[in-house]
Amino acid sequence: MTGLSDPAAGVAQDGAAPVLEACDLHRDYPVRRGLFAAPAVVHALAGVSFKVHAGRTLAVVGESGCGKSTLARLLTMIEPPSRGRLLIDGADVADRTHADDAARSRLRRAVQIVFQNPYGSLNPRQTVGAALMEPLLVNGVADQAEREHAARAMLRQVGMGDESFSRWPHMFSGGQRQRIAIARALMIKPRVLVLDEPVSALDVSIRAQVLNLLVDLQQATGVAYVFISHDLGVVRHVADEVMVMYLGRVVEQGPREAIFGNPRHPYTQALLSATPTVNPALRRQRILLQGELPSPINPPSGCAFHTRCPIAVARCRQQTPALQTTGVQAVACLAVQAATG
Ligand SMILES: Nc1ncnc2c1ncn2[C@@H]1O[C@H](COP(=O)(O)OP(=O)(O)OP(=O)(O)O)[C@@H](O)[C@H]1O
Ligand SMILES: [Mg+2]
Repeated sequence: MTGLSDPAAGVAQDGAAPVLEACDLHRDYPVRRGLFAAPAVVHALAGVSFKVHAGRTLAVVGESGCGKSTLARLLTMIEPPSRGRLLIDGADVADRTHADDAARSRLRRAVQIVFQNPYGSLNPRQTVGAALMEPLLVNGVADQAEREHAARAMLRQVGMGDESFSRWPHMFSGGQRQRIAIARALMIKPRVLVLDEPVSALDVSIRAQVLNLLVDLQQATGVAYVFISHDLGVVRHVADEVMVMYLGRVVEQGPREAIFGNPRHPYTQALLSATPTVNPALRRQRILLQGELPSPINPPSGCAFHTRCPIAVARCRQQTPALQTTGVQAVACLAVQAATG
């Protein structure tokens, strides 16, 4: 179990089966709003579906509270979905008939996560080397020399010097710590890495370095990424597919070129207009959304975006738009769907 997987093994091919498939995932949380108020339910995720192939990146984008981290918890099996199915390499993680304990732990290993905060995700009482070797020990690599060899190789692969092996997390900068967190997550060769705002806590100058590292690691290993960000600008250079979420639902989904070149949903257009661009030809008129993000406990009727939508029509208050595919991208907007027939 040294180094990483064979590059050729992971590269997406046309017609290849997805490594990760989410079918209509829902997640509800019961919440109490006060001692005497009736319990309410937060629909943190209200029907999310997608496929991710080996060696590819799905970016999940949306404002705070739209359900991104909830999705991350479902994908990494930290929490079960309230409804819907999750398949890893074609195996349904919730299916108890084939998912015995050994199979479930194999599925769990297949999806690893990197969090936003590299300060919180590393144990301050563990050296970097110990942090990297631990997942191997837990997963049955009994030989100390083999664990150390693999950990040192991984440190090199994420651009950290050999001396970092015996140092402590506090001795590193934010960007270096995030490299270490990525290294640790890759130690057991996951099929999918969920990255929940992986560069949001980093200085702008460091972000591009970590994003480039992620691109290099994906090319070398064939790992698939689910890359979560509130900022469309961050995912522009790493995403193959983009999924835009609003209050627990997908409003637009499609290949990166389509989402950036021809955004159809008014929410995607607003998010994109707020993204700085160095290319003046691509510069868009800034679209300012009115109002606050509504509460997912009591979302607006019909299309949940209608309260802030610049092109909403009367029907949008009553009717919830389904995600409909025209061309390469899928859009959930009654006005857009009416215009395209
Ligand atoms: N354990 C929980 N109990 C109750 N409500 C929850 C729980 N976890 C999440 N929520 C609610 O579900 C919604 C989605 O939360 P989530 O953390 O997934 O959003 P997010 O898109 O990751 O936001 P951010 O960009 O701020 O990280 C929010 O309204 C949140 O308050
Ligand atoms: Mg979050």
